[in-house]
Amino acid sequence: MTAPMHPAVAARLGKRFVLHRLWEQGDREAFLTAHGDAIRGIATSTLYGRVDDTLFSHLPALEIVASFGVGYDNVDALAAAARGIVVTNTPGVLDEEVADFTIGLLLATIRRLPQAERFLRGGRWSRGPFPLSPTLRGRRVGILGLGGIGKAIARRLEGFDVAIAYHGRTRQEAVVYPWHPTPLALAAACDTLIAILPGNAATHHIVDAAVLKALGPDGVFVNVARGSVVDGQALISALEDGTILAAGLDVFEDEPNVPPALLELPNVVLSPHIGSASEQTRAAMGALVADNLTAWFESGHALTPVVETRF
Ligand code: NAP
Ligand code: 8YV
Repeated sequence: MTAPMHPAVAARLGKRFVLHRLWEQGDREAFLTAHGDAIRGIATSTLYGRVDDTLFSHLPALEIVASFGVGYDNVDALAAAARGIVVTNTPGVLDEEVADFTIGLLLATIRRLPQAERFLRGGRWSRGPFPLSPTLRGRRVGILGLGGIGKAIARRLEGFDVAIAYHGRTRQEAVVYPWHPTPLALAAACDTLIAILPGNAATHHIVDAAVLKALGPDGVFVNVARGSVVDGQALISALEDGTILAAGLDVFEDEPNVPPALLELPNVVLSPHIGSASEQTRAAMGALVADNLTAWFESGHALTPVVETRF
């Protein structure tokens, strides 16, 4: 195990396997030299460091990397594939939780709930009412990445009677929402953009200055994907100069570091990457990590291999 994750994972893995805790080793290099030959599986988490070819080169017997999280930008899956190592993630078990959270972040951003609470706690109510907020009513919401979580968000948004559209690389025949062939076309057709797609080389800064400009001065941008999908400097500029109205951000390029400019902006709602972070959902994700490792070593088949390593 490369880093701490939900306690139930270590408890289960410790019963079934010889479990080494990499983060507890004082000298990581010395540990890998002493034990690398014997290690056949890795449990890792999106929150702590990359699992890449440098690590693989120390682990000649490695068969599987089981990652805690549906996004697996923390693992070099192509390097794993080249070595015949299976990578697994935790899709599906967090869709509804992350979608609930996204709706909360969207509403908090538009109706300015954290700002209103700070206003009340700061004793300012007695001096006059909180300023009127923008509204979700009449909005046109674009979902950038209509996968498992994106669809769960869309289902919830249907109940809010807002227009829904999406962009992905491919048009989904079974989906009734309008598809737009580029992020720019989606932003131009919407005033609210929710990013919920993987972070990788293809999506790096996919939300750039032009996309934010197309969203417009009433535009709201919500990022629950990865910090890397938006050009951070362009976003700060757009929020500062009114190119867009507001943003709700759960993810950042250099977590846990957040750009100081974002902390100062009044039109941003920030959260510390907690989209899936309920007790129940994190336990379900942890169980899937352990289930993948157990299934692999009992049957030779992982439950949820990522697309790059479906051999
Ligand atoms: P998913 O089911 O694999 O869906 C991903 C969607 O993104 C697909 O619809 C895909 O459509 C689209 N996509 C992929 N590459 C794209 C590209 N280059 N350009 C445009 N669209 C692209 O994944 P998911 O389970 O919904 O999760 C999505 C992401 O959310 C994760 O990878 C993770 O980064 C993030 N996430 C964040 C949190 C949090 O706590 N904030 C929690 C969970 C997940 P096409 O294949 O048609 O392009
Ligand atoms: C978690 C996530 O915060 O699943 C993902 O891709 O970003 C979140 O669910 C993360 O995986 C915890 O390590």
